[in-house]
Amino acid sequence: MANSPSTTNPLAPGWLAAPDDANAFADGLWPSSATRVDGELVIGGVSASDLAARYGTPLYVVDEADARSRAREVRTAFEAEFARVGTSARLYYAGKAFLSTEVARWMVDDGLNIDVCSGGELAVALAAGVDPARLGFHGNNKSLGEIDDATRVGIGTIIIDSAIEVERVAAAAERNGTVQSVRLRVNSGVHAHTHEYLATAHEDQKFGVTLEEAPGLVAAIRSRHSLRFLGLHCHIGSQIFDADGFGESASRLLAVHARLLEDGPVPELNLGGGFGIAYTTADTPTPIRQLAARIADIVADECARLDIPLPAVAFEPGRWIIGPAGITLYTSGTTKAVDVSGASRLYVSVDGGMSDNARPALYGADYSVRIANRVSDAEPALVRIAGKHCESGDIVVDADYLPGDVAPGDLLAVAATGAYCWSLASNYNYLGRPAVVAVRDGESRVLVRGETIDDLLARDTGVGMVSTISTTGGSVIEPVEIPGDVVSTSSTTGRTTTHEQRNTGR
Ligand SMILES: Cc1ncc(COP(=O)(O)O)c(C=O)c1O
Repeated sequence: MANSPSTTNPLAPGWLAAPDDANAFADGLWPSSATRVDGELVIGGVSASDLAARYGTPLYVVDEADARSRAREVRTAFEAEFARVGTSARLYYAGKAFLSTEVARWMVDDGLNIDVCSGGELAVALAAGVDPARLGFHGNNKSLGEIDDATRVGIGTIIIDSAIEVERVAAAAERNGTVQSVRLRVNSGVHAHTHEYLATAHEDQKFGVTLEEAPGLVAAIRSRHSLRFLGLHCHIGSQIFDADGFGESASRLLAVHARLLEDGPVPELNLGGGFGIAYTTADTPTPIRQLAARIADIVADECARLDIPLPAVAFEPGRWIIGPAGITLYTSGTTKAVDVSGASRLYVSVDGGMSDNARPALYGADYSVRIANRVSDAEPALVRIAGKHCESGDIVVDADYLPGDVAPGDLLAVAATGAYCWSLASNYNYLGRPAVVAVRDGESRVLVRGETIDDLLARDTGVGMVSTISTTGGSVIEPVEIPGDVVSTSSTTGRTTTHEQRNTGR
């Protein structure tokens, strides 16, 4: 259904044009299965209103087929392009983007390895049954326990982030009677964000060691019989739209890589993750196969120039795989129009916010929104989707156009929330984190259940005690029986379905 073309609202950011159809799902922003059936958003064959009725809102929804086909697409793109120039590529899924046991199994089944960066992420991957040899362990401050656990379970690689970690990993590997494969994270001085990158000579950041320090640390690694050096690692940033930053970084790393070859083998080069996706129609990332081809050419040319053999190459995409495969469903609660200098912006408040999507508040990230339960030919209105938290910066979508009759009770879908939303979620204002549901072939199932009020109270040791003010003015804390039922805003999966539930007094 087409809206009548509208004029751009002067309050809209420069990149946002008024759409011809504020119901349409723009190409590249939404999961590949997203479509409208009888006006309603259907994803993975399941309608938005069915999902909301069954699980409540807010709700993270992941299109399984899309996530998995993106995993295969990025893997085959890099494998094919590096095979073309004469070497191999290994892909790691960056679990920090979103990790659950089932997603870990999808990734491994689709031929990827997995990066973890904490004992918790390691535990999830192991609970998924992933072969530890297919895991890489990152982090600038891994605890001694995490290093010990990783070496003990036989993790594939540990990415050493500092001089101190050389000794720590070597000692843990020795203790556990193993030879641990390691990479050394260097900061190449290249920082990239979308289409821009910045190249500096010196680094002032917490991750990695400098290019100048690398040879000394590699010598230290090589001197330890419990360590096996694989190669250098570098991650230059996120939301990178083209190959230039990767190329510059690869050239800088390969110069050091060539020096390291003089004293021993350097079988690998790991260029990290960071491939960008479209959150709005203004985002235009290079197609992944083209990006892979360009990076492969740069690495091959540089190796030829340095007259060194091509190393095996590794990459660690997270967002590119899972981001566009996910959406968040919200229910709109209140709306209000605000007039600013004669122009109008419609605020639409939803039942979640910065606790389920911290990226707008953290990074000023932009998102796109559509009404999910119906289409409308009302004239598009500039909207700002606000959360329900006690923060004026609690914005989910800073600016988009929706049909102007968007109303309380409408279901809203926000695109491309598959990465770094659930994983950055919080309990701010004691909102439970929403469930994550996978959809596929007309079926839905819970990947991670939502938090209930009981979950939120479970770690509070004072639950079941009440404080009464004594006649002398002091407070007396005493245990209290809470008889009968109390209302809890919990459901088995979401958080807005209410039902009566006995308070266990935990
Ligand atoms: C070392 C490393 N590898 C991979 C990634 C994944 O980045 P993205 O999800 O943008 O691909 C990150 C993200 O912070 C990272 O720090």
